Amino acid sequence: MNKYLLLTVLLATLGACDKSGSDASSGGSAPEAAAVKAIEFVATQDGAPIKIDAALFDTPAAKDFLATGKNPYIGNDEAIVKGKKVFQMYSCVACHGGHAEGAVATGLIGPNFKYAKNATNKGMFETIWHGTNGGMGAKGIGLMDPTDPKNGVTVDETLKVIAWIRSVSTGITGNE
Ligand code: HEC
Repeated sequence: MNKYLLLTVLLATLGACDKSGSDASSGGSAPEAAAVKAIEFVATQDGAPIKIDAALFDTPAAKDFLATGKNPYIGNDEAIVKGKKVFQMYSCVACHGGHAEGAVATGLIGPNFKYAKNATNKGMFETIWHGTNGGMGAKGIGLMDPTDPKNGVTVDETLKVIAWIRSVSTGITGNE
């Protein structure tokens, strides 16, 4: 009901502007209506919001992820091969094992996780990007190495590494 009322008022206002040719009373609501839809990230540590520069979502897959929370690389063979390389390059393998089955740190193949949200793409992204309080350091670019803002995994690489982890996972499709 309220929505309809608002719409009516809005249309009436727009109509009035049109006729009078004056924008003195337009209120400037247009930029808000044009705002891009984006998911909001929270830290695995405490659930507090984390801000990630939108410019870092610089590939079609990364942009898609920012808008929907879905990982377009799930099931994409090429991306999965790259994701496996990222897993090795960033030493994930040293702590989590060559097949993400677990080594000095827990396995990542589910279906159960220490942090339940890691069953979702958004949750696992947040854990890899921003780390945990329990020995998992932040790996996101600019966070991993305070002395070098260019060091760390990119958004795109993080999505690929998640796609690889899901490809070796049991009991979890990774589509969430
Ligand atoms: C120095 C060792 C180390 C490295 C390197 C490391 N991790 Fe971890 N990781 C851990 C530990 C320890 C935990 C458990 C954290 C906790 O209990 O809070 C963890 C937890 C995780 C979790 C959450 C698991 C769950 O059950 O909720 C994910 C996902 C993860 N790591 C992914 C990665 C990825 C991907 C990389 C590489 C980019 C990586 N880790 C590199 C040590 C490591």
